[in-house]
Amino acid sequence: MFIHFSMQINQSFHTKNTRNAPVAMGSDEFKSIGYQLIDQIAELFESLPNRPVSPGNSPKEIKNLLGNHGMPDTGTSASELFAEVSQKLFNHSTFNGHPRFWGYITASATPIGILSELLAAAINPNTGGWELSPMASEIEVQTIQWISELIGYHPGTGGLLVSGGNMANFVGFVAARCAKANWDVRKTGFSTPEAKKMIAYVSQETHTWIQKATDLFGVGTDQIRWIETDENFQIDTTKLTEAIERDLSAGNLPFMVVGTAGSVSTGVVDPIEKLSEICQKFNLWLHLDGAYGGFAAMLPEAPDPLKVIHLADSIALDPHKWLYAPLEAGCVLVKNPRHLLDAFSYHPDYYHFDDAVEENGANFYEYGMQNSRGFRALKVWMALRQAGKNGYIQMLRDDIAYTQKLTEAILQHPELEPFTSRLSIATFRFVPGGDASQFSQEYLNDLNEKILTSLKKEGKVFVSNAVINGNFLLRSCIVNFRTQLSDILALPEIVTEVGRRLV
Ligand SMILES: Cc1ncc(COP(=O)(O)O)c(C=O)c1O
Repeated sequence: MFIHFSMQINQSFHTKNTRNAPVAMGSDEFKSIGYQLIDQIAELFESLPNRPVSPGNSPKEIKNLLGNHGMPDTGTSASELFAEVSQKLFNHSTFNGHPRFWGYITASATPIGILSELLAAAINPNTGGWELSPMASEIEVQTIQWISELIGYHPGTGGLLVSGGNMANFVGFVAARCAKANWDVRKTGFSTPEAKKMIAYVSQETHTWIQKATDLFGVGTDQIRWIETDENFQIDTTKLTEAIERDLSAGNLPFMVVGTAGSVSTGVVDPIEKLSEICQKFNLWLHLDGAYGGFAAMLPEAPDPLKVIHLADSIALDPHKWLYAPLEAGCVLVKNPRHLLDAFSYHPDYYHFDDAVEENGANFYEYGMQNSRGFRALKVWMALRQAGKNGYIQMLRDDIAYTQKLTEAILQHPELEPFTSRLSIATFRFVPGGDASQFSQEYLNDLNEKILTSLKKEGKVFVSNAVINGNFLLRSCIVNFRTQLSDILALPEIVTEVGRRLV
């Protein structure tokens, strides 16, 4: 007998026949609050074009508006809370759903995805185990296969949905680490005489996830080889080969090459075919970071390297970028599902999931880092069904076409200097009078940084920045199905007006 109550609860008080949980909600109250909330959200969407994109509040102002209350001892009614909190959010948020939001790589969220989030939370399936989420898990399995098909990856691919691009890249990284270490790295880590320095090769344009990955998974950031890029910002494959050969001579273990399929600053795609040849020659894992650009592979007119993404062993994608899924939704595909099991699977005694199901790959706790998992797939799957492949092709084409129109407008503008225009990312800067040779780089950098700060404060548009060859640039990235051509064509004048004022 192991029975032992670890806490003394007054049982006579707490064991009435019916309990009255403070978070429970009657059906009428649930409907009334829910209908009202949907009405308010619909009105918010209608009003977005007339609202500032960003609120322009300082952190201190936001903190004051929120109020510095301690944890409440007693509760507040749900209707009161929704009335208060929806207004706070509506009036003090940065809206990536605004037609003039083109900052970072953050998408307008599909309305069907937003409603699907509610449905998913209502069912609340735990997609860690199939038996806890039969329909939800199968929807996720199908979502993975559809995404794979959409971008021309492999039928029967392994994969799963995760919280975002970083996590998707981490999963690919861990699968590569496990597949290429020639000792039991899961058991011993790097604390064994057989362990070697495992080297990852990435271009200088690679997103910062690689630093977190090498750090978190024991490889160490010193083992990243940052390979220079050429004049097109693509990884220099000659320098890559030389670096691999140097590491082999030094007794290190080169294990993976990361190719970028749509870099965060400029949208550049690395030469994937060439990277694949190098990986085959040296027995390395080819991982693609397609968090942003991977979905452009669905376009018949995609840049050539994107047409061969099937050469990769794994690929990270972000449905919350170019599938316009509400945050959070990342996705990783791994060509051979076995590699995910090899890297992540354990079988604790307290899980008794059906073996037949495991073969189908639907006990997702075995395929990635999470144990309990939510139903991220629904919002992605519903939008894929709503738009279909053709619908998505149309939306991505519009984003790219508008970016090209913006670039043409910048080219024609006497005081704006364009730098790059790839996929749906354009970079440019303001140059007073139009002749950059009249100013130092420092002056122009400082001026454009100030322009960016003012733009964010004023809230007419939202862009972010890139630094290219030491130049601080404004950068717009359209992953926004709400943007109209007139919105993006307004950008040059808005920037110029702020620039002139600051000069
Ligand atoms: C190329 C690339 N990789 C990875 C990431 C990280 O994605 P997330 O922010 O979804 O984790 C980003 C984000 O912009 C990205 O552009």
